Amino acid sequence: MLKRLSIAVAGGLLLASAVAGCGDSGSDTGSGKSGGGDDKITLGFSQVGAESGWRTANTKSIQESAASSGIDLKFSDAQGKQENQIKAIRNFITQRVDVIAFSPVVESGWGTVLKEAKDANIPVILTDRAIDDPDTSLYKTFIGSDFVEEGKKAGDWLVKEYEGKSDPVNIVELQGSPGAAPANDRKSGFADVIKADTKFKVIASQTGQFTRTDGKAVMETFLKSQPDIDVLYAHNDDMGLGAIEAIEAAGKKPGTDIKIITVDAVKDGMTALADGKINFIVECSPLLGPQLMELVKKAKAGESIPQRVLTKETTFTPEQAKEALPSRKY
Ligand code: AHR
Repeated sequence: MLKRLSIAVAGGLLLASAVAGCGDSGSDTGSGKSGGGDDKITLGFSQVGAESGWRTANTKSIQESAASSGIDLKFSDAQGKQENQIKAIRNFITQRVDVIAFSPVVESGWGTVLKEAKDANIPVILTDRAIDDPDTSLYKTFIGSDFVEEGKKAGDWLVKEYEGKSDPVNIVELQGSPGAAPANDRKSGFADVIKADTKFKVIASQTGQFTRTDGKAVMETFLKSQPDIDVLYAHNDDMGLGAIEAIEAAGKKPGTDIKIITVDAVKDGMTALADGKINFIVECSPLLGPQLMELVKKAKAGESIPQRVLTKETTFTPEQAKEALPSRKY
């Protein structure tokens, strides 16, 4: 991803209802005015949707941080559709908001609308997910995780877990929504690590749309078509949690009969990890709100900001989940 974005600085820092016709579910938490009128900064934010526990926590973080920073937030929910995000961004441009931020549903197809924002002199901040457009002048910065690294961490755990064993390891993979950066990158990062040892075989890989419902449905089909599954790698907790239901319904023990690796570390995922139903979770932090608001203020003031703001995150074993759960915020 970093390569595709041609980002010069990698890892430099560790860190409503105003949009019509786009399936808005949020609210204008500010005065409702358009940007540029007075001192209060207006931020137009287009969210992917509400597909997962991660997304809910991310929306909450953004809404709460905007309110506590005195930023007028115009929040739009794209309901998982790129066309809704494009409409929302155009609407933000028409309203002359001060800054636009969005979490792209997919990686491709943003050039035209971001050029419109650039021509209108409205700075854009990519939040959580990157785009694949090589023209980095279309946005000020990208704040979020390194999804390739997350996939690698999942692969590293697996390699260690099966160290010294030679039997084939049959893996099924639940991918995130097609074309989304975390789906592409978590898949490639994981594949890069496990390809070094031919005993690891991905015997089935399909999208579960980052949702519990689809994760469960796809795992049911995997269980029917694949008699010998050793490992499930799910690109997020929600799909893993749905898959656990399918595994239990099939009379198998998640975490024991089938080892499970997921990404996110939301409370429900961490609880399943502490209970031994998931074996390993790679953290992806949704709490981007406070840092995003700082970047918004700087972008509005015309101050220089790093091209890449990398989120700090870790991994969890069952023991670590037990320790972390009591103070887990999401
Ligand atoms: O972009 C972040 C990903 O999107 C999260 O890992 C997943 O849960 C969400 O839907």
